[in-house]
Amino acid sequence: MALLSPQAQKQVKRRRTFAIISHPDAGKTTLTEKLLLFGGAIQMAGAVKGRKAGRHATSDWMEVEKQRGISVTSSVMQFEYNDHVINLLDTPGHEDFSEDTYRVLTAVDCAVMVIDAAKGVEAQTIKLLEVCRMRKTPIITFINKLDREVQDPIDLLGEIENVLKIDCAPITWPVGMGKTFRGVFSLLDNRMKRFTPGGEKLSDDVEVIEGLGNPRLDELFPLEMDYVRESIELIQGASEPFSLERFLEGSQTPVFFGSGVNNFGVEDVLNALVNWAPTPQPRDAGKRMVEPDEAKFSGFVFKIQANMDPKHRDRIAFFRVCSGEYQPGMKVFHVREGKEMKIPNALTFMANDRVLMTNAVAGDIIGIYNHGQLHIGDTLTQGEVLGFTGIPYFAPELFRSARPKDPFKAKQLHKGLKELGEEGAIQVFEDELGNLYLGAVGQLQFEIVAQRLATEYNVDAIYENTSVSTARWVTYPDEQTRKDFEKEQGMRLAKDADGNTVYLATSIYNLQTTQKHWPQVTFHVTREHG
Ligand code: G4P
Repeated sequence: MALLSPQAQKQVKRRRTFAIISHPDAGKTTLTEKLLLFGGAIQMAGAVKGRKAGRHATSDWMEVEKQRGISVTSSVMQFEYNDHVINLLDTPGHEDFSEDTYRVLTAVDCAVMVIDAAKGVEAQTIKLLEVCRMRKTPIITFINKLDREVQDPIDLLGEIENVLKIDCAPITWPVGMGKTFRGVFSLLDNRMKRFTPGGEKLSDDVEVIEGLGNPRLDELFPLEMDYVRESIELIQGASEPFSLERFLEGSQTPVFFGSGVNNFGVEDVLNALVNWAPTPQPRDAGKRMVEPDEAKFSGFVFKIQANMDPKHRDRIAFFRVCSGEYQPGMKVFHVREGKEMKIPNALTFMANDRVLMTNAVAGDIIGIYNHGQLHIGDTLTQGEVLGFTGIPYFAPELFRSARPKDPFKAKQLHKGLKELGEEGAIQVFEDELGNLYLGAVGQLQFEIVAQRLATEYNVDAIYENTSVSTARWVTYPDEQTRKDFEKEQGMRLAKDADGNTVYLATSIYNLQTTQKHWPQVTFHVTREHG
């Protein structure tokens, strides 16, 4: 198989592609902002999320997000750090948008987990980590908010190990907390970095004190050092040292302590990304694994976002490059549609701007303008029929039917819901009679969709309760079974945005009864895109 040129292979090795996962409020946005600050992508903290000043996060494009203060959409930011190209994929923290987050996690090679040191492991972190575990994604842990009164670091590590079932290898160790937070001691370098509050911009003048036994430490922090030495001894006795191999297989996480808002400990995380996080990894494309340094271009769409810029009503497919090189104007093979398409002007994303992409390799995320040809899960190649796997749809748990307030706007409603369905904002099912059912994982999805229908498609939708309470994708062993099943159950069947058949059950009991009567039909809780 032909390989990329040595220069392009070098470019691949410089890439680090990751997402930050956390429970809402643990400090994901703050960390994102500080990482961009270190990467020189923004000049001043507050540019990403100027909270009190009423500015809005760069990563929060949509009006609704600004109002709700939660990140609904996921965005991508690229910056350089230490001769590496970092691709940071933002994820919505709110659980109602967890589907979106799962999809983003299929496009990364590593994740940074932020934990609020006062609250410890929270519900959303548990769920997100399960997804990472399924994919064996390596995790770097950042324990945040040490400038507050927080839990004992030993207890925090114990909680991560017990609840998240991942071994911890502390790389830094906090000295004090809250008002007496003095800094972190690096266990690998055997030196202490002293904490200075503030840090709205970069500063090089961090004081460093060498050696855990250094008497200067006792002089400066007479009240803290005994406990610090004691706890370090304890933790080193109880935990295995950091192992790059175990980190890369996802069974051990390096742990850093700090304070995102004070810019403290952030650089450690970046260095860990550059030094330890994996280069772009091979990806499962169904019939074979695709290696990142193969010469031929390939990749998949993991997210669609419409109308990012209200002035342009554009639609952008976020595409993870898995192999080869993107070049402007290149022609690619759209596997699902079985035909060629051109990518004239893909975008990359820097903090505030979209920039025309001139070149992209494995690990990079490009934004492809399109008019609905690209769906979530679509694979593009240079001719080979591949299908990247692992991008899930989950059977929704909440259902509504939708109709336009103004009956003359049925067409707009249909168009809007179809597009929002393809974008993955909500799942849309249409039955034989043309009735539309909306399925969501979280209640907020309905509200966002109603708001977007009003602002982007100029149609007020009325939601109504439906008799549907759960859904399953169905597949048949043969044509005859399909015909028989459709004849008997046609009233309960609908098609999803990609034309797959779904059984809409009125209750779990109804579902179980049908399953019992039709053992030859398979009912799926999840479906892969594409
Ligand atoms: P999220 O994206 O994970 O939801 O969290 P975000 O960064 O928005 O942070 C949530 C809150 O925690 C913010 O406070 C933020 O300032 C605060 N925070 C983040 N890192 C630290 C830290 O290291 N120490 C302390 N003490 N606080 C931190 P907020 O009140 O919601 O906003 P603001 O009014 O402070 O801007």
